[in-house]
Amino acid sequence: MFTFPLLLFPFLLLFSTTTAQPYKPTDYFLLNCGGATASTDRKWDTDERSEFMPSTTTSFTSAPNNRDPSVPEIPYSTARIFITSFTYTFPVAKGPKFLRLYFYPATYSRYKADQSFFSVSSNGYSLLSNFNAFQTSSYLRTRITHSNKVPHFVKEFIIYVNHTQTINITFTPSPESYAFINGIEIVSQPEYLYYKSKKIKYIGLSSGPMIIENTCLENIYRLNVGGEKISPIHDTGMYRSWDQDDPYLFPSRTVTQVNKTPIVYTADTPKYTAPELVYATQRSMGATSENRNLTWQLPVDSGFYYNLRLHFCNIIPDYTRKYAVIFKIFISNQTAEEYADLFYWTKGTGFPVFKDYGVFVYDFDGSGRKRDLWLAMGPNDYSEQYYDAFLNGLEVFKLSMNGSLTDRDSELRPMVRPPSSPVKNKTPLYAAIIGGIGGALILMLSTLGFIVFQRVKHSGNKSSGEQKSKDNRLPSGRCRRFTIKEVKDATREFDKNCIIGRGGFGMVYKGYIDNATTTVAIKRLNALSKQGFHEFQMEIGLLSKLRHVQLVSLIGYCDDEGEMVLVYDYMSHGTLQDHLYKGNNPNLPWKRRLEICIGAAKGLDYLHTGANRAIIHRDVKSTNILLDENWVAKVADFGLSKLGPKEKGVDHVSTAVKGTFGYMDPEYYKMQQLTEKSDVYSFGVVLLEVLCSRPVIINRGVSDEEVNLAEWGRLNYRKGTLKEIVDKRISDEIAPNCLMKFGEVANSCLRMKGSKRPKMDEVVWGLEFALQLQEAAEKRGGMVGELIGGMSENQEYMFPVKGEDVSVNEEYEFEGSTGVGIQHGLVSTDSSSREGLVSETVLPR
Ligand SMILES: *[C@@H]1O[C@H](CO)[C@@H](O)[C@H](O)[C@H]1NC(C)=O
Ligand SMILES: *[C@@H]1O[C@H](CO)[C@@H](O)[C@H](O)[C@H]1NC(C)=O
Ligand SMILES: *[C@@H]1O[C@H](CO)[C@@H](O)[C@H](O)[C@H]1NC(C)=O
Ligand SMILES: *[C@@H]1O[C@H](CO)[C@@H](O)[C@H](O)[C@H]1NC(C)=O
Ligand SMILES: *[C@@H]1O[C@H](CO)[C@@H](O)[C@H](O)[C@H]1NC(C)=O
Repeated sequence: MFTFPLLLFPFLLLFSTTTAQPYKPTDYFLLNCGGATASTDRKWDTDERSEFMPSTTTSFTSAPNNRDPSVPEIPYSTARIFITSFTYTFPVAKGPKFLRLYFYPATYSRYKADQSFFSVSSNGYSLLSNFNAFQTSSYLRTRITHSNKVPHFVKEFIIYVNHTQTINITFTPSPESYAFINGIEIVSQPEYLYYKSKKIKYIGLSSGPMIIENTCLENIYRLNVGGEKISPIHDTGMYRSWDQDDPYLFPSRTVTQVNKTPIVYTADTPKYTAPELVYATQRSMGATSENRNLTWQLPVDSGFYYNLRLHFCNIIPDYTRKYAVIFKIFISNQTAEEYADLFYWTKGTGFPVFKDYGVFVYDFDGSGRKRDLWLAMGPNDYSEQYYDAFLNGLEVFKLSMNGSLTDRDSELRPMVRPPSSPVKNKTPLYAAIIGGIGGALILMLSTLGFIVFQRVKHSGNKSSGEQKSKDNRLPSGRCRRFTIKEVKDATREFDKNCIIGRGGFGMVYKGYIDNATTTVAIKRLNALSKQGFHEFQMEIGLLSKLRHVQLVSLIGYCDDEGEMVLVYDYMSHGTLQDHLYKGNNPNLPWKRRLEICIGAAKGLDYLHTGANRAIIHRDVKSTNILLDENWVAKVADFGLSKLGPKEKGVDHVSTAVKGTFGYMDPEYYKMQQLTEKSDVYSFGVVLLEVLCSRPVIINRGVSDEEVNLAEWGRLNYRKGTLKEIVDKRISDEIAPNCLMKFGEVANSCLRMKGSKRPKMDEVVWGLEFALQLQEAAEKRGGMVGELIGGMSENQEYMFPVKGEDVSVNEEYEFEGSTGVGIQHGLVSTDSSSREGLVSETVLPR
């Protein structure tokens, strides 16, 4: 009896070593920290080895005071404990390595589990930060295992080791705390397994961080979907463990399938990718006639990119050909695959395949709290034989951002900038604006008929006290999370009478929050709109981190009960367009128009240069420039915005063409390469709208030249007849040299080549100069016909591209796009509605 286990043991070892594994690690370390060399189904070394640990050790070893008998003895019956920073060093070859850290949060002599906080870093990556293993294990217990025992767990990271050929792992206890570790494992992996692998499809993003040597990964989930847990020794040689997917499955009827045919690996899916056990079992909906989804909910930390690897293999004997079973795959409620067909992806039954997807999980409120990453699959109507969807395995990785798996929102964090005032103490009007952000303001994209032109009633709230409380409400630029009840109370259960705007995205309501002390605009995104979710995320992600007097302020959001609701300051004067040619508003005087243009240009300049990465608005138009009670212009609607390029020297991002017809930069449209200069172009169109008070596209009753405002404006500028197309109501107000300057700025924004257009700060400059010319002329009285000397020199100085604008043979690319728009019936004179969008699907390449 005593010898039995000893006899058995060598056989087990023999068995597991002689079973040829598809991959044989070139680097392999397995340490029982604080303990002795020992064997389980694998051999563990003691960590008491000088080559791994510094000679001047400041650590203790200890056993847990009370180990649950169900917790494996090795490596959990001992721990190494550190009260100062401590580094393990391992010699390894260059290449990607698994690093696994084993934790059992228990009380070790006088060290209590809930008092241990520490950070772990490795080769320059921050892996864990102020980490408390007890919290992690409590989370696992309540959310995943539903047991009353404190679970032990393993954290798995992947690090690409460079020419230094070492892995250093540093444990740093938080102040007055301690760190511990039960086991450390390092295993090499094939160069092409996760790094440098196939193309990753980004969902809702045009790109993500490349998985190259400077990104480290953390495995968050590795599931043998529809199958049993697979222990490390049954992996393909890398000792990964595969868990059951049941805890993450959204309750619904599913069928698990077990394979009867052999699994045939290929060059694209080599044998080491995943064990046969993964591909030989799967979860499916079962041939069904129902239109529902097979769904998994995977809690992850928000504010990071994630890569999902989906493993598939058709093992259902009835499915034998292409088109028989086609299914859709959704990630984060966005379509990742419309037509997943295993017979299209592989040679047929028994051939495994995996697909990689990337997604960003937005951190809406800056808390970094866990959010559910949704993976859903459902039948596609094009299936010819069966309605079904299935999955065999799933791996989810968190990607380091800026060298860290723990730091949040490093991408979008704006640089600290002094708050900029619109125009320095120019008029008392502006002074009032700066003090009076409090109360009122507007909304986005409203179709005119629904705007309520209502001055804010709470004019009392401009006192400094109120101002302060408002600032408190938005601590450090973060935004507030509303409950659905607060939103419903604010809008009287989304009462029709509260609607002040509507568009393709959904409705905009006027509402009152905080005991009716604050008027807000509430945008309720249509849950059915496919684009909606991405826009919702983008808007929150950007606006919660950007604050500028010339950008519309997001107060908060609500994402309860599947609603996507955004809450903004209410803007009592509505959109710029409403005051130009829509609606029956009184005429806007020229100087006010100029000031609005300057304000909007400053808002865009801040977007382009205020954060550490440029933000490209992509949908600059007169309906996205809102006016508050003091006529301060605010740039709004960041739903289509994009981060500019990350790398220095790259000046564009490649992206699907989005925007509004009539405003869209022809160069962007043609090349699909987005730069800040695309916003400059659109802004140039807005300048012409302001000057001429007419829609950007007029379909009927005008000559061909007049259809497109951008063309029409440029043509008249070149011919020197700009004055003839100016809004009749203001043409007498405009000083001629101011008009010249303004025309010059607008024209330079509309240059065909983005590189020749001015930057937004130059546009601000040019417009401020135009305003000065106007004011100077007004001061002298009789402005008509008067010219101010020296102006042409300034002109040259500001926009040094000479001669270009009089050249007649400049290409007229824009004509082409006019044709496209009309041909597809996309031209909408109501540019405020989303129907006017040109989307990637309708644009010919
Ligand atoms: C690890 O630490 C050793 C000794 O401090 C150092 O020489 C080596 O460069 C470090 N390696 C890495 C990858 O940081
Ligand atoms: C290798 O990694 C070390 C530690 O992160 C870093 O200091 C060094 O610059 C890297 N070298 C190369 C060639 O990437
Ligand atoms: C996806 O949709 C479901 C319900 O349809 C919702 O509960 C969930 O919050 C959504 N997921 C995300 C990431 O928004
Ligand atoms: C399946 O999930 C997607 C994404 O969440 C959703 O858009 C779709 O409506 C769902 N289908 C069904 C039938 O519930
Ligand atoms: C990355 O980190 C470095 C150093 O901490 C910092 O200077 C840089 O701004 C960060 N980059 C981003 C995009 O956050």
